[in-house]
Amino acid sequence: MTLSALEVHNLKQAPPVEGVLPAVLSRWSPRSFADHEVSPADLAKVFEAARWSASAYNEQPWRFIVGKRGTETHKKIFSSLIGFNQGWAGSASVLILGATSTQFAHNGSANAYALYDLGAAAAALCLQAASLGLTTHSMAGFDQDTARKALEIPGDYLLGTVIALGYQGEPAALTHEQLISMEILPRVRKPLGEFVLSAWGQPLKLG
Ligand SMILES: Cc1cc2nc3c(=O)[nH]c(=O)nc-3n(C[C@H](O)[C@H](O)[C@H](O)COP(=O)(O)O)c2cc1C
Repeated sequence: MTLSALEVHNLKQAPPVEGVLPAVLSRWSPRSFADHEVSPADLAKVFEAARWSASAYNEQPWRFIVGKRGTETHKKIFSSLIGFNQGWAGSASVLILGATSTQFAHNGSANAYALYDLGAAAAALCLQAASLGLTTHSMAGFDQDTARKALEIPGDYLLGTVIALGYQGEPAALTHEQLISMEILPRVRKPLGEFVLSAWGQPLKLG
């Protein structure tokens, strides 16, 4: 017998740290999605969060192509996913492909921060989704050429990830045992001392 969706959600929570944003602690990436639609109002809120992200020269180079389940766009994004991701992501209410302009609009020069800015906007989107009780799962596992052709994305845009957005589903609804066991794995992170440094190789002393 596997765990329920609620039990898994509880298991996946980061240990509470006072003062850290609740959405940061509660966000995690499921592979089981419930058959509930995301409302247009909630969809607007997650993109509002992306909209207010910082970007180099305030270029806002990101573009999000949104495929709601049952639409041609959802089918096109889904068909670009690698087999492993097709094994679970199709049940998400929305599939979103992130793209980003590699040229600054103000002078046409190369924007070396295009992917950085897209990632920042995507992170805001994912946290906003978590705070609305929605859930997201980012995927690098898709064929960029297939997605670019199917969605007619110009060559001067880089592609980021596909983000599955929806409501968490029951782990038992996943079709493979491997996916079910991955769904209930505890989340692990490096300690702060490994990546917060006072000098290269030296952990910053915190608290
Ligand atoms: C850029 C990026 C690419 C990812 N690609 C995939 C993917 O193709 N398939 C998948 O199942 N998970 C993918 N993930 C999900 C990560 O495995 C997951 O975020 C990570 O294990 C941390 O788990 P958490 O999001 O639950 O904290 C991706 C995440 C990111 C940020």
